[in-house]
Amino acid sequence: MQVDVELLKEFERGLDPARPEQSRIPARVLGYGEISTIFEIQADSVKNLACKRLPIFQTHDEVERYEQIYRDYNEILEKKIGINVPAYGFAWFTTDAGRIIAFDVQQKLPSASIGNRAIALLNTEDIRTLFMLVLHELQKVWVYNAANPKEALGIDGQISNWAISGFDPEKPAIGNSTQLLYFDTSTPMMKKDGVEQLDPELFMRSAPSFMLWLIRWLFLEGVMTRYYDARLVTIDLIANFYKEQRPELVPDLVKAANEFFAGESGVISVKPLTEKEIKSYYKEDAIIWIVFLALRRFDRWLHKYILRKPYAYILPGNIKR
Ligand SMILES: Nc1ncnc2c1ncn2[C@@H]1O[C@H](COP(=O)(O)OP(=O)(O)O)[C@@H](O)[C@H]1O
Ligand SMILES: [Mg+2]
Repeated sequence: MQVDVELLKEFERGLDPARPEQSRIPARVLGYGEISTIFEIQADSVKNLACKRLPIFQTHDEVERYEQIYRDYNEILEKKIGINVPAYGFAWFTTDAGRIIAFDVQQKLPSASIGNRAIALLNTEDIRTLFMLVLHELQKVWVYNAANPKEALGIDGQISNWAISGFDPEKPAIGNSTQLLYFDTSTPMMKKDGVEQLDPELFMRSAPSFMLWLIRWLFLEGVMTRYYDARLVTIDLIANFYKEQRPELVPDLVKAANEFFAGESGVISVKPLTEKEIKSYYKEDAIIWIVFLALRRFDRWLHKYILRKPYAYILPGNIKR
């Protein structure tokens, strides 16, 4: 996909990180990631695109390397593993102040079709079907990884990372042949010759610098490796239903997942999941992110009032958990 770099540059020039909606070229925030902000920019050349702003790169080498991994990851998912991804592109530039800003650009998907929004419209039966569809998509990755352990891909199976193709919010329905798209490709975890290609340090840059040592020590290892593990990715997926305020669905989803793994033909073996471990995982995960966000806000405050330096990141408002 061709991307209008000049327009993105112009957007960045007028961007107000504290109030992105009021930027010179207006933009709507489609979502907040842990490291990126996803914009729908109001300009013709980027209409119907989701622009994921990544302010994390410090050198040209870093950003070029990332672009390569990002493109490879999308391509392997699509062509070798058989998971649909939206049309995508990539652009980066240096700002007037000398900062590198990169954008992952994607076809914009209808907001109602995105997993966490769709489950608000679907009945219990359809939610279960959607969940099974996600497990089937993820299974393609586990099978690929088992056959190509040195070229394995990590994937974040969260319900908010999938969109339902052809979803009609007026007549919400899901069937066994419904197609899903996976769009959270901005953290392209993948191995080559058994070596992780994505530098995890990149994704810690939005963390307050005074916290880096602690974060590294606390969960760097765990954060990257868990996306290669079928069991942990499934736990994370089911735990989303607590976050989405649907705890009543969890027991049934645990049962469905266990049946699925028991029935799949020997490629991967997954020890049965329990509701209890999903609940305690969720609590721990929620605390980590709440603390992390609070520290980032403190860091932003430090930049503004004490260090008097610009703060490059855009922080979400309160997230309901
Ligand atoms: N292509 C897209 N079209 C529409 N909304 C999107 C798109 N990509 C991301 N979003 C919105 O932004 C949120 C976060 O995007 P995602 O790519 O999952 O980033 P992260 O890695 O930070 O989770 C999504 O859950 C979704 O609501
Ligand atoms: Mg996501």
